[in-house]
Amino acid sequence: MTLSRRRTLQLGLGAVAAAGCSGIERQPVRASDNPKQTFSMTGEMQLKQRAAAKGLIYGSAASYSSLKQDPQFAKLFAETCGILVPENELKWGALRPASDRYDFTQADWMADYAQQNNILFRGHNLAWKHFNPDWLEGVTSRNAEQVLTRHITTVMKRYAGRMHSWDVVNEAIAGIPSWRSDGLQTSPWLTMLDKDYIDIAFRAAAAADPKAMLVYNDTALEYEKPEDERTRSAVLALLRDLKSRKIPVHALGIQAHLDAAETRFNANKLRRFLSDVASLGLKILITEMDVKDQNLPPDRELRDRSVARTYEEYLSVVLDEPAVVAVMTWGLSDRYTWLTETNPRKDGLAIRPLPYDENLGRKPAWNAIARAFDAAPKRS
Ligand code: XIL
Repeated sequence: MTLSRRRTLQLGLGAVAAAGCSGIERQPVRASDNPKQTFSMTGEMQLKQRAAAKGLIYGSAASYSSLKQDPQFAKLFAETCGILVPENELKWGALRPASDRYDFTQADWMADYAQQNNILFRGHNLAWKHFNPDWLEGVTSRNAEQVLTRHITTVMKRYAGRMHSWDVVNEAIAGIPSWRSDGLQTSPWLTMLDKDYIDIAFRAAAAADPKAMLVYNDTALEYEKPEDERTRSAVLALLRDLKSRKIPVHALGIQAHLDAAETRFNANKLRRFLSDVASLGLKILITEMDVKDQNLPPDRELRDRSVARTYEEYLSVVLDEPAVVAVMTWGLSDRYTWLTETNPRKDGLAIRPLPYDENLGRKPAWNAIARAFDAAPKRS
């Protein structure tokens, strides 16, 4: 099945994907742009329906303000997405204006929006090195465990039974090379609690909402770059350790912030990593997918094709792994993307990393995702 499917994909990296199937190791070579590549697909179904037809979930992150103040966007979101992830509204910095106060206004509104529109809701995140309130600096090793446990308990109990999954710990490993042999990154939690913070967070999470899928989420897991190799092996070691000590972790979240100009993609290595994770009894979620076009030439059609090819090539590899159960993009429309701030183009042109353009029209990237779902094996 897979080999003939690969042949029909007409991907820039089709040869690499095929090599992955036949077990032959081959270096990836990104094919030059093919203007004839049309990303054609059939049928009228939305992305969430195409995903559901394969037993998968498709959805996206969004902000409170985009959904609340842009009804046209909110309508498109509900039509397209089976799951909603608040982009920032459940992070410490948003929920905790003071050490003795919680502000759930925006997160509650988003939970209601999801429920009213029959969309699953997903939590992001409970322990991260970024987006923390300033008062966290006043927490010490003496009270850190209590502060972390109380936060997780309070926040998770509020949405208990309504959450598909929670990113319990985010980005403990990826980033500048760590001085530690376990690869753990400097973060307030590591400083205060050492690596115990991970156990504490997952244990508190399991007690607070026994129904939610508990996820360890990380980035820089995709490419054949030294830093990604390092992240993959440290993440695998961490997951092995957590599982061996029966810490309640249920899934790995792979952020998948990709770059259309990056050529170091090795499908074989990614497949192996996914199957190693799956063999631990873990599910896998693609949690934050988007594709940078920052370093591509200015031509718009070319950029859109290249971004689309990156989506399809990546998803066609990861969806072959049955443990992968969900795909989320980090935004739905180029109208609202964090990359506008973090990865603008030098020529000043607007970036185009998501499935819908700034006018909420479908892009080749939409077709690419649809094609990957249509070609994916059905989950049992
Ligand atoms: C980003 C948001 O998109 C931005 O709005 C915010 O300013 C910073 O955080 N990895 C993650 C997400 O896990 O939480 C990040 O979201 C993007 C990278």
